Amino acid sequence: AIESGVAQKTITDWETYAIELDKRLGLDNQLMRVLGAKARRNPKRLVFAEADNIKILKSAQIAYDERIAYPILLGDERTIRQMALDNSIDIDDMPIIDPRNDEYEEKRKQFGELFFKKRQRKGVNQYEATKMMKDRTYFGCMMVENGDADAVISGLTRNYADAIRPALQVIGMEEGVKKIAGMYMLLTKRGPLFLADTTVNLNPTAEELADITLLAAKEVRSFNLVPRIAMLSYSNFGSSDTPEAKLVARAKDIVKQKDPTIIIDGEMQPNIAFNQEILRDNYPFSELVDQEVNTLIFPNLAAGNIAYNLMKEIGGADAVGPILLGLKKPVHVLQLGSSVRSITNMALIAVIDAQLKCENSNQESAK
Ligand code: ACO
Repeated sequence: AIESGVAQKTITDWETYAIELDKRLGLDNQLMRVLGAKARRNPKRLVFAEADNIKILKSAQIAYDERIAYPILLGDERTIRQMALDNSIDIDDMPIIDPRNDEYEEKRKQFGELFFKKRQRKGVNQYEATKMMKDRTYFGCMMVENGDADAVISGLTRNYADAIRPALQVIGMEEGVKKIAGMYMLLTKRGPLFLADTTVNLNPTAEELADITLLAAKEVRSFNLVPRIAMLSYSNFGSSDTPEAKLVARAKDIVKQKDPTIIIDGEMQPNIAFNQEILRDNYPFSELVDQEVNTLIFPNLAAGNIAYNLMKEIGGADAVGPILLGLKKPVHVLQLGSSVRSITNMALIAVIDAQLKCENSNQESAK
């Protein structure tokens, strides 16, 4: 029923949004249009874990109207229905689930058992495991884990670290990944710019920084772009003999060992990364000469988080994210207090992520 309802709508707001953005930025923002079209080709079941929040409800409606997702709303049904009525939001085709309701006792038990199996040797007892399923973030993650939904977005109303833990505990990491990381896509006048890690790892080691870089590169490729990576520091190619600068240079070497084809250089300052003249004149050996850098890797969380916020607030770039990298299934955690536009962008990213992960697992099972 949800699918047929979506199919009948012919709204093209995503294009309107992209054109608006183009005008604001003075560029042809193809990427958002491509992503919107890609999501629409195969919309996914997307859980909105905090559907009793008006911004979330509006985003769910946009995602539905634009045919990018089939929203599933979590929260108190009466509150959600009243909020929808008060704000003329049509949620007729969207299932509403209140994990605390008696109606979902069996589901809580089922999810609780699954969760208990995962966490029984991490200090969680069976009673607690079932009780935790009343929490919408846990319940939403469990829906994805159990195949009842394709992706979940949560976190709008809670501290980022608290919202990320259920994803780590329930979903876990993709095979081969040791640490998840967070990335922002900034839509700038010079084109999309990807920044990592902006949200998760406080002080990564060189090995961890290399892994973060490879995760970011994979994500950039998933948008059909070739990553051109600058590993950022306050030092340029050995100009500072400090442990922090050396760590970044070492991370670059590890990345290069693991993927010799990748276009990457560092450690370097961002002004050098973006100024071809200085780069060519002073560092002609750099792999980034004549390359347009589109991916920035930061030495630690403080640098990454501060940089993206500055670019957003002062530089006027539209920020899409945080995109969580390295999780086995699509869970995305919103930044506290995100706008409707940011939430809708994340819904789009979550759907694309679900499409990719579904394609990957189909390829795996076909082997
Ligand atoms: N990747 C994968 N797994 C991880 C990671 C990671 N980066 N970090 C912790 N884990 C694992 C732990 O090993 C643990 O596993 P286990 O319980 O199975 O043994 C599990 O996740 C939970 O561990 P905790 O001890 O509860 O988590 P921890 O205290 O290590 O915190 C967290 C993890 C929340 C991600 C932490 O790194 C953190 O607080 N990061 C900063 C978040 C933040 O404040 N961001 C900036 C602002 S947010 C914004 O701008 C949108």
